[in-house]
Amino acid sequence: MNQPVRKAVFPVAGLGTRFLPATKAMPKEMLPVVDRPLIQHVVDEAREAGIEHFIFVTGRNKGVIEDHFDWQFELEMALLERQKHAALEFMSQDLPIPGSTSFTRQQEPLGLGHAVWCARELIGREPFALLLPDVLVQHTPGCLAQMLEAARELDDKVNVVAVEEVPHERVDQYGVVGVGTAKGKTFTITTMVEKPRPERAPSNLILTGRYILQPEILDVLQTQERGAGGEIQLTDAMIQLSHTQNFYGLKFEGRSFDCGSKIGFLAANVSYALGRKDIAPGFRVEIKRILDELNGD
Ligand code: UTP
Repeated sequence: MNQPVRKAVFPVAGLGTRFLPATKAMPKEMLPVVDRPLIQHVVDEAREAGIEHFIFVTGRNKGVIEDHFDWQFELEMALLERQKHAALEFMSQDLPIPGSTSFTRQQEPLGLGHAVWCARELIGREPFALLLPDVLVQHTPGCLAQMLEAARELDDKVNVVAVEEVPHERVDQYGVVGVGTAKGKTFTITTMVEKPRPERAPSNLILTGRYILQPEILDVLQTQERGAGGEIQLTDAMIQLSHTQNFYGLKFEGRSFDCGSKIGFLAANVSYALGRKDIAPGFRVEIKRILDELNGD
């Protein structure tokens, strides 16, 4: 892929119904995994991969996401007065450089494909990354960095999607890809199917929520009809684009967590906490105590 990927899109306009009532007044993307909101983890992944511009597709009640990536004058003054230098340092590290974020609105949550299309003017005519903030991948280098490295080995104007294996009986919850020939660490995608019945699925490799897409996807989305669930589906648009452009899959390294589900979210908190030197020792003791009490020891 010759043209560099400088921009990343983060769709954050969904309703987060699976987390009600927690998400009644607070966006799902602001739920914390340990002490960082989901959206911050995903922005960190994009930043580590070299992304320069961060595009958020927001909606009603999502203003706090914009505030999160802004300078909090009163808070910083209070921290300064109280000599909380470590906290101040943390906050300034996370602050995006001025002009590197853009926010646009998806007035109605009409689906992921529609959310991406809402960012068309900000994306322009260049390849871009798309990261779903409710999927976390725990690994260094991050999932997007792995994808960009793999993409550099491929031809120009290709699309790359992150894929992972799930038990065959669970494929009906996901977008599933068909596997073609291997090319370096990637493979060509022969087909994509949204939520297939297990007996009809082309494989047990599912789309994980990380994409590198060519701008032509925006042209397809422009006229995309509503699909499953009455939503404008990104997978439908990718299937159409795959008739004229190549799609590659990358089986990334790392453990993914579907933080849009309660179990995935809780598992992410446990795994990220156990990965932290400052938290893991005390947290292990607590987990053991809870399990022992439950087991009646
Ligand atoms: P999800 O379908 O997981 O999010 O979309 P949701 O709709 O908010 O969740 P539930 O099912 O009601 O609990 C994945 C990502 O795409 C965004 C969501 O905000 C989430 O980050 N999204 C989804 C949009 O931005 N717009 C949409 O129309 C749909």
